[in-house]
Amino acid sequence: MRTDYCGLVDRRYLNQTVTLMGWAHRRRDHGGVIFIDLRDREGLVQVVSDPDNPATFGTAEQVRNEFVLKVTGRVRLRPEGTHNAQLQSGEVEVLADHIDILNPSLPPPFLLDDEHLSEQVRLEHRYLDLRRPAMQKNFRLRYRAAMSVRRYLDALGFIDIETPMLTKSTPEGARDYLVPSRVHDGHFYALPQSPQLFKQLLMVSGFDRYYQITKCFRDEDLRADRQPEFTQIDIETSFLEQGEIMAMMEGLVQDLFMSTLQVDLGAPFPRMTWQEAMARFGSDKPDLRIPLEFTELTDLMRSVDFKVFRQAADLKDGRVAALRIPGGGTLTRKEIDDYTTFVAIYGARGLAYIKVNDPAQPNEQGLQSPIVKFLDEGTLRQILARTGAGSGDLIFFGADRAKVVNDALGALRVKLGHEKGFSTGGWKPLWVVDFPMFEFDPEENRWVALHHPFTSPKDGHEAYLDSDPSRALAKAYDVVLNGWEIGGGSVRIHREDVQSKVFRALNIGPEEARSKFGFLLSALQYGAPPHGGIAFGFDRITAMMTGADHIRDVIAFPKTQRAQCLLTQAPSPVGEQQLRELHIKLR
Ligand code: AMO
Ligand code: AMP
Repeated sequence: MRTDYCGLVDRRYLNQTVTLMGWAHRRRDHGGVIFIDLRDREGLVQVVSDPDNPATFGTAEQVRNEFVLKVTGRVRLRPEGTHNAQLQSGEVEVLADHIDILNPSLPPPFLLDDEHLSEQVRLEHRYLDLRRPAMQKNFRLRYRAAMSVRRYLDALGFIDIETPMLTKSTPEGARDYLVPSRVHDGHFYALPQSPQLFKQLLMVSGFDRYYQITKCFRDEDLRADRQPEFTQIDIETSFLEQGEIMAMMEGLVQDLFMSTLQVDLGAPFPRMTWQEAMARFGSDKPDLRIPLEFTELTDLMRSVDFKVFRQAADLKDGRVAALRIPGGGTLTRKEIDDYTTFVAIYGARGLAYIKVNDPAQPNEQGLQSPIVKFLDEGTLRQILARTGAGSGDLIFFGADRAKVVNDALGALRVKLGHEKGFSTGGWKPLWVVDFPMFEFDPEENRWVALHHPFTSPKDGHEAYLDSDPSRALAKAYDVVLNGWEIGGGSVRIHREDVQSKVFRALNIGPEEARSKFGFLLSALQYGAPPHGGIAFGFDRITAMMTGADHIRDVIAFPKTQRAQCLLTQAPSPVGEQQLRELHIKLR
């Protein structure tokens, strides 16, 4: 029987006999003596086999990387000068009495120590990739984080209730994954994009406090912080106001970081309205580690000749904004060109800039720029005053529809901020509040919900639902950490008449509302309590905690950018018989 974990054997075990099980991380043959680094989930220990014990030595000679071994032997001190301070077991080694090969291994396709593996190779052999100590560490942290959340919520009386995976489409803005029904010809279930409507129904049922750590499915374009299936910490409460819910949820995040990382996020988290976040950072999830901010120039540019700026300023939804880069005068032509290419990804048609040599001369003498000749001195003086630019600074400009300017300069702010050493580091949490209820979708030519259509308008904003949806603000709140949206929630609509009004504002007719959400509209008429909640992106939170760049590194079996599982080769074709049972004929 195993007596101990490899990685935990240390000085305390001197002269004891231990039996260890694990993988041969590496075998070194030192002419006469064989060293095997034996690895298990707790780490490595060095096993020594010498020819004085010929049977064992013979076995040790056959061992190759990743063979599974059972080793019995005596713990002794390593010789002076061969200690390894990196390992808990670094002062000792195990002199092998017996080595059993429990299972050999093919030569692994990569060395587990290799830091520069391609994602492709790692995902194709994920079970080997997950053997790497860094990955083992990620998943243990993820588990500890989940336990912390459960403890916190349990102590507050939240109970975990499961909601269906085979359900009806709930619109959260992404495309659904559909599952065809065999029994009902031509009918489909949808995998849940979130448990949103079910958790609201549980409030109608009187459970008062619900939570669930559960999978959600969204067929959307994938990025570093998005997977097609991901995990939410999903929470709902009854009878609490927005402020009470936010305080409780802020406590959850603080407790989570304290208990798993011993990090104090500080209290209370700063709050910012959506309006302010967009104005200052061009983003509703600003990375507050970067101190750079936008300067508003739209009003100023309505009266200039320079067409690029004036046309943008005159648009109904136009914006001209500047981003001052302190000391940015040292940026090279090539760097500016590369940033121009970068903002083009976000639709920007250019990236005008001014290098400030001498702010006392707001003209072609004191300023170096392709656009100075188009702007008069008065305007240039205003630009310098508003941005506060001094000698040696550089100012970037964005002029377009506000969305393009915000996306482009907002992304530039974060990229350049990190690349050029402006980041203060550390943890910067933030609540963003007072989101608009709706945003106009020019493609669909209608208002769409910024959060989801079950979000309550702010007190006094109900009237705007009919008169001017663009003015209606929501009782919605997002938690942002270091530029990632880690959670979002709202107080919900609990009255049927208000819910119907919101559907109307979204151009969802009574017929469509009944067929899609009839069950919700009914439930709201049977004594629905005031309620609200939040959902946190658990993969995002754990990725941040482990320092991973990508949520793939905290998901055991993730999908690629193209939504494939390279390990199992999903998705894959299915046979004609299976399709026939599902009443499906491929186009
Ligand atoms: P929302 O759509 O904002 O809200 O999702 C909540 C949180 O889930 C995370 N998230 C994702 N993580 C990884 N991959 C994805 N594709 C992905 N999409 C979202 C984010 C996000 O903040 N029902 C509402 C919550 C509520 O109102 O209570 C909802 O789902 O961190
Ligand atoms: P142009 O007159 O098109 O040569 O542009 C002059 C400068 O303005 C160049 O540096 C362009 O990169 C920049 N520019 C052009 N369009 C925009 C825009 N929409 N927003 C910001 N800068 C722009």
